[in-house]
Amino acid sequence: MSKKQEYFYITTPIYYVNDKPHIGHTYTNIIASVINNYKKSQGVESFFLSGTDEHGLKIESSARKAGLEPQEFVDKICKAFEDLLKITNSGNDDFIRTTSQRHKDFVIYFWKELEKNGYIYLAKYSGYYSIRDEAFYKEEELIDGKAPTGADVEWVEEDSYFFRLSAFGDKLLKFYKENPDFIKPRSRYNEVINFVKSGLRDLSISRTSFNWGIKAPSDEKHVIYVWLDALVNYLSGIDYYTDNPSKKEKANLLWNNVLHIVGKDIIKFHGIYWPAFLMANNIALPKRIIAHGWWTNNGEKISKSLGNVIDPFPLIEEFGADAIRYFLIREIKIGRDGDFSKARLIERNNTELANKIGNLVQRILSFAYKNTNQSIPSINITIDEIYENSEILTGILEKNIPNIDNHINKFEINEILDIILNIVDEANIYIDQKAPWKLKDNKDKMNIILYTSIEIIRYIAILISPIIPVSANKILDQINVPQHNRKLQNCTMEFHVKPEIKINKPEIIFKKYDNI
Ligand code: MSP
Repeated sequence: MSKKQEYFYITTPIYYVNDKPHIGHTYTNIIASVINNYKKSQGVESFFLSGTDEHGLKIESSARKAGLEPQEFVDKICKAFEDLLKITNSGNDDFIRTTSQRHKDFVIYFWKELEKNGYIYLAKYSGYYSIRDEAFYKEEELIDGKAPTGADVEWVEEDSYFFRLSAFGDKLLKFYKENPDFIKPRSRYNEVINFVKSGLRDLSISRTSFNWGIKAPSDEKHVIYVWLDALVNYLSGIDYYTDNPSKKEKANLLWNNVLHIVGKDIIKFHGIYWPAFLMANNIALPKRIIAHGWWTNNGEKISKSLGNVIDPFPLIEEFGADAIRYFLIREIKIGRDGDFSKARLIERNNTELANKIGNLVQRILSFAYKNTNQSIPSINITIDEIYENSEILTGILEKNIPNIDNHINKFEINEILDIILNIVDEANIYIDQKAPWKLKDNKDKMNIILYTSIEIIRYIAILISPIIPVSANKILDQINVPQHNRKLQNCTMEFHVKPEIKINKPEIIFKKYDNI
C-alpha cells in the first residue's frame, strides 16, 4: 500500500531591505534550507518560502538617505537577499516581495476580510512608535525612555485603523494551552503566554504620516501597518485565496503543516499578532513556530553602530557555502545564542569536515582506486552477509536512521550532526583496526573491508547532504551513486553500492585553512 503523500511548508521571516544581508539572515535561511532538504529527502512534498519586507517608514527613510526613490532602493537591496539564498544553495522554492502585485492584492483582500468580520475600526492612536523595530510600545514598556530592545521611540498621535486584538486574549491562551509545542523553545512559548496574560490592547494597523506602503482599501490616506502587510506573506506566497481548485488544495495541504522559522526578537509578532489575525479571518493557525537565537561577533552584539556586522558574502567566497552552512548548524542548537568567529569556523572546518569526514572518504577511496582496479571492490560474499558482519552498517540501519528521522520530525538539526559524526568516528576506528593496506595479499578480506567502508560512506554522504549538499554530492559522484538514489529513502540495503562499477578518481573534498 502506498503511503499518503505528506506536505510540509517552511518559511523564513521576510527580510527588511533597509540594509544588506548579514550573518543573522544567513542563519535563518540555512536553518530553513536544511529542514526543507531533510523533509524532501524523506520523500515529503516540502515547500520553502523566503522573501523581503519592503514597505514601511524604516525603509522609506533609508531610501531617502541613499538619495533614491523607495522602489529603486528596495529593488537594489532585494537582489542581495536573493543572491544570498542562491550562493548558500538554500534551495528556496519561491521568493515573495511585499512590493509585488500578487502580495499587494492579497493584503488588500486580507484586510477587507478583517473588516467584513468586524475586527477593524477607525480611531486615534496616541503612543510610542519605534521605527527601527516598526513596533508600538506602551508607556510602561519603555526603559529609560527607549524601547525594551534599546531602539529609540517617538511619540505618535494620528488617525489610525485598529485591529481588535483585545478580543483574542482568551482564545490565544486557550490555543497555547492546547498546543504546548506551538512555539519552541519553551522559554519563548512562556514569554508569549506572559505577554498575552499581561493584557492585549487593540493594535494600530495603519499610519497616515508617510506613504511607502499598501494603502488601506477604502481610505487612501492610510498606509497599512508594515507588520500586518509582512505577516500575510506566508499566505500570499502560496496563493492561499486562489480560485483554482487544484492550487487551492495544494495551498491548504501546505498551510496545514507550516513551520515558521523566526529569530527570538520577532516572536511576539509571530506568536501573538499573527495567530490573532488568522483567527479573525477563520484561517487555521500555523502548526509550529521555532525561534532561534542570536549570533554575536567575537562575543559582542552585532550592530551597525559597533561596525561589527558580519558580511556573509566574503565568507562564502573564502570558505564556500558548505563550510558556512555546516558551522552555523553545528555550532549551536536551535534556540541558543552563538558566537561567530572566523577562528572557530576554521577549527570546525579543519577538525570535523576535513580531518574526520574528508580523511575517511579520502583514504578509503584513494586506496580502493589504486588497489581495486579503479572500482568498487568485488566481494565473494552476499550483501546480506556484508551487513550481518558489520556492526556499523546494522547500527546505521537499526539505530541511527530511525534516530535521525525522529530528530528531523522534531526539527533538531544540530542533533543530527552528532549522530553523523559518531558514525564517522566509528568508521575511522574500524578502518584503523582492520588496516586494509596490510591485507594486500588477502584480497578477499581486503575487499570486504573496503566494500563495507564505501557502503558506510554512502550513508554518511546521504545523511549529511541536506546540510552540506555540494560536498556530499561530490562524494556520491565519486562512488557513482545515481542522482535519484541520494535520499533518506535510499538509505537501505537495497540501494547498496554496486560491486565492480568504476569509481572516479578521488579528489580532496574539504579544504583545510590555516588557523588564525
Ligand atoms: N521584516 C521582519 C520580519 C517580518 S516576517 C513577517 C524582520 N526582518 S529582519 O531583516 O530585521 O530580520 C530577519 C531575521 O534575521 C529575524 O529572524 C532576526 O531574528 C534575524 N536576525 C537579525 N540579526 C540576527 C543575529 N545577529 N543573529 C541571528 N539572527 C538575527 O524582522
